[in-house]
Amino acid sequence: MRGLAGRRAILTGGASGIGRATAIRLVEEGCHVGIFDLDFAGAEQTARLCAGKPGRVLIYKVDITDRDAVVTATDVFENDAGPVELLANVAGWDIPVPFLDTDRAFWDKVIGINLYGPLNLHHVVVKRMVDRGFGRVVTVSSDAGRVGSSGEAVYSACKGGVIAFTKTMARELARKNVILNVVCPGPTDTPLFDNFKSSSPSGGKLAESLARAIPLRRLGTPDDYPGMIAFLLSDDAGFITGQTISVSGGLTMHG
Ligand SMILES: NC(=O)c1ccc[n+]([C@@H]2O[C@H](COP(=O)([O-])OP(=O)(O)OC[C@H]3O[C@@H](n4cnc5c(N)ncnc54)[C@H](O)[C@@H]3O)[C@@H](O)[C@H]2O)c1
Repeated sequence: MRGLAGRRAILTGGASGIGRATAIRLVEEGCHVGIFDLDFAGAEQTARLCAGKPGRVLIYKVDITDRDAVVTATDVFENDAGPVELLANVAGWDIPVPFLDTDRAFWDKVIGINLYGPLNLHHVVVKRMVDRGFGRVVTVSSDAGRVGSSGEAVYSACKGGVIAFTKTMARELARKNVILNVVCPGPTDTPLFDNFKSSSPSGGKLAESLARAIPLRRLGTPDDYPGMIAFLLSDDAGFITGQTISVSGGLTMHG
């Protein structure tokens, strides 16, 4: 893809699942990637998987719910690698529970990671992009944020929230040469999805019935997403902003 080689990217959630697959792809494309993740050992494993590829991986233990920690890690990344140009917000978390059985502490945790996390990254990193007159951002939401998902009411609210937030930021920042888009995965076989399976008494059957509901007849895998995320961060996507794209085997189809 055009315009990725040599670019400096911050990517949250790169220790696992979709974030790990995306980190590997961006490093293959020649990006210098700073992984911000709570799971340092997982991020180290991602870095090992990137060995020998053209770009570089730098890893930082960061809790994205903590704005000060995001500032510190961004400062260190820019000191290590140079000014950040690309941002991929991939970190996320949920455990499916019917909304009426949840409590305020659970809402705070879900909102902290899935909404405050991306807000913190935008507030810190996108500000620097604006100051320099260039930036590209992809935020991973979910089809839950477009069509809902039983047992994931607060998570869905956050994921719908980042879609509306991105559209607004895309309008505010278009003239600053910062473009922002959203990718919505459908059900995807990652450690996060294991939380979903273990919340259901029928476990594996849940995965089978979800797969049957997907026109392409399978769950997503982490490798289904990096192509779209890398494209939206590349110069090939330079005239695309404020868009929401489902990568979910046809589960949701928006005109
Ligand atoms: N797996 C699915 O079915 C699915 C479906 C739709 C959307 N998504 C979204 O895709 C993204 C990636 O999910 P995944 O399935 O790869 O999950 P995953 O659990 O494999 O990876 C999530 C990563 O986020 C990190 N993380 C969580 N909280 C953090 C915090 N406070 N600070 C820093 N890092 C933190 C975790 O350590 C982990 O490395 C998430 O935003 C998720 O909501 C996943």
